[in-house]
Amino acid sequence: MVHLGPKPPQHRKGTWTDVSETLLADLKELEEQLTVSGETLKKITAHFITELDKGLSKKGGNIPMIPGWVHDFPTGKETGNYLAIDLGGTNLRVVLVKLGGNRDFDTTQSKYSLPEHIRTAKSEELWGFIAKCLKKFVVEEFPEGCTSNLPLGFTFSFPASQSAINSGILQRWTKGFDIEGVEGHDVVPMLQAAIEKEGVPIDIVALINDTTGTLVASMYTDPEAKMGLIFGTGCNGAYYDVVQDIPKLEGKIPDDVPQTSPMAINCEYGSFDNEHLVLPRTKYDIQIDAESPRPGQQSFEKMISGYYLGEVLRLVLLDLVSKNHIFANQPLEKLNKAFIMDTSFPAKIEEDPFENLSETQELFQEVLGIETTSPERKIIRRLAELIGERSPRLSVCGIAAICQKRGYKTAHCAADGSVFNRYPGFKERAAQALREIFEWEDGVEDPIVLVAAEDGSGAGAAIIAALTQERLKKGLSVGVKQ
Ligand code: BGC
Repeated sequence: MVHLGPKPPQHRKGTWTDVSETLLADLKELEEQLTVSGETLKKITAHFITELDKGLSKKGGNIPMIPGWVHDFPTGKETGNYLAIDLGGTNLRVVLVKLGGNRDFDTTQSKYSLPEHIRTAKSEELWGFIAKCLKKFVVEEFPEGCTSNLPLGFTFSFPASQSAINSGILQRWTKGFDIEGVEGHDVVPMLQAAIEKEGVPIDIVALINDTTGTLVASMYTDPEAKMGLIFGTGCNGAYYDVVQDIPKLEGKIPDDVPQTSPMAINCEYGSFDNEHLVLPRTKYDIQIDAESPRPGQQSFEKMISGYYLGEVLRLVLLDLVSKNHIFANQPLEKLNKAFIMDTSFPAKIEEDPFENLSETQELFQEVLGIETTSPERKIIRRLAELIGERSPRLSVCGIAAICQKRGYKTAHCAADGSVFNRYPGFKERAAQALREIFEWEDGVEDPIVLVAAEDGSGAGAAIIAALTQERLKKGLSVGVKQ
């Protein structure tokens, strides 16, 4: 088959003669469990479409399909200075965005690493931390002070139900966050109160999901962009639907919003298949879920996103250890620690350029204190490949489902996130999986492609804040019928 598009990497061949029959048998079993065929991808995609529809129905379903109250497409002409913050991964980012009005923008930003304990701290500590970072940033960027309050687009990358653009009730934490007193509450007044306590001249204008921000920022510069996608610590996608095609909004749309108006939808499809009907879950996925702060939630995300990929590898290795098939007489204290391997771990293993996998050897020694044998490293490398391949293959089912649902024959699917940007081979493997799902003809350019997104949580949040202010100025609504 000849396809014009990125090609996935070839698996390392090498010689396997030094690997024992026992380990080869283990590997065969793991290959069966972790490999997802093109046929399975098609089956998953078909189920995905029905689940997206269910999420928009009055009854609802597993996938929240949250209307984001962004009714406008960006024109590229939006202008002004906006602040944006991004909470949702491993860092808090504060960005000053200057929208140029000519499909261009400038950003100045600072990154503050989220102290690990914040993921499970008390609510006030989280909001206080963000407010303090904002204060630091504003003092640095506006040393002479501000003449009026700065409008802020708050990118909150968690499932938050929105009855208006400037509010969001957290449904549940994801990605290992577990902060008391936030679920079931509107996060905007909580952050606004902390900002006021710090005396920072900021008004939160819009609450945005990172995927919606990615969608809007990418459309600002690329009119072919149809989706905003994040493949990072978590995974999710957003697209524009049409008000009249969203049954659950019947009777809730204000009179000034036409039925044909666009509506950005934050799918929150990390929760796809929480019923476990189609995803080929392994015992490792089941264990990750069972030991997570929210068992039964985010089933799809837990198989593919960056927060979990290293953990899958760790659990597979521990399984082999429990059978006494690897790491004889090696210290296991570190390997026994949950989440000790982040996604950079399998990524580095896949990137190891040396035939004897010496970088993998060093990695295991440095991080885990484990001395590996050559056969062990071959197995580890192959496992990293299997895990690194399963993630993009499953990931694209969400993209394929949105395209089929909306009838997109061609699309730029604008993607961002650490896994998309940094995991070796992700883009190529994702492209290959899309080809298997759509069975495009040989010799043609892939009509649906993943492209690198514009900065959704910075520029996207700013553009949405600008669109919101524009609507408010015109007296147009930005939420449900009052
Ligand atoms: C969250 C989404 C977010 C995604 C990517 C998921 O865990 O629920 O809101 O878009 O991660 O950051």
